[in-house]
Amino acid sequence: MRGALIVFEGTDRSGKSTQTRNFTNALQAAGIAVAEHSPWSFPHRTSPVGQVINAYLTNKTHLHERALHLLFSANRWEKASQIRQALRRGETVVLDRYAYSGIAYSVAKGLPLTWCKCADEGLPAPDVVVFLHLSPEAAAKRADYGSERYENKHMQTAVAKVFEQLRTEQWLVVDADADEATVLNRILDSAMPTVAKARSTPHIASLWN
Ligand code: TYD
Ligand code: MG
Repeated sequence: MRGALIVFEGTDRSGKSTQTRNFTNALQAAGIAVAEHSPWSFPHRTSPVGQVINAYLTNKTHLHERALHLLFSANRWEKASQIRQALRRGETVVLDRYAYSGIAYSVAKGLPLTWCKCADEGLPAPDVVVFLHLSPEAAAKRADYGSERYENKHMQTAVAKVFEQLRTEQWLVVDADADEATVLNRILDSAMPTVAKARSTPHIASLWN
């Protein structure tokens, strides 16, 4: 019986880090095996590739946009076997951002969608994408953006538009403009059946099937 791959996506400040943590704790409390150190976040900033990405995001270095896109993807490939191994061991893996962020941010900057998708082709496909939806107005009421690249309203609006294009009926869109406990309950209601379903579906699909 394999574990489920559950990806959380959303714009900056939508609550992904908080809710991936809450969700992971809720799974564990329900007796579901979860991969060690879950949730796993992308970018994973401490790997060699991740360090270059971090330097870019904190404005310490300049990179060609296409090179940057490939690095974000490489950063996921670095973890791909670990994800598959954990799933095969029966552990559920919770991810804070994945290939959808990779595409959304790069396309928002003007790169072609089909080119962007290629780099992530073959990565383990999630059983569900939990999309935390937060309007730009609601986002503006949350704490100020930090000093990293992309943390501005113009970029976030553009990114939200691409996420909308990428969305399929398999995504679980959750209104993130509510208190923490309410949002978590909304996620749990819809995501728990996915965990159960993955157990009876041995095959781990690959992007973009
Ligand atoms: P973020 O999840 O916001 O990191 P943290 O929680 O540490 O602030 O990711 C940092 C930025 O990287 C964010 O603005 C989105 C962007 N990003 C991409 O541009 N491409 C990608 O493939 C990923 C995973 C993130
Ligand atoms: Mg951020």
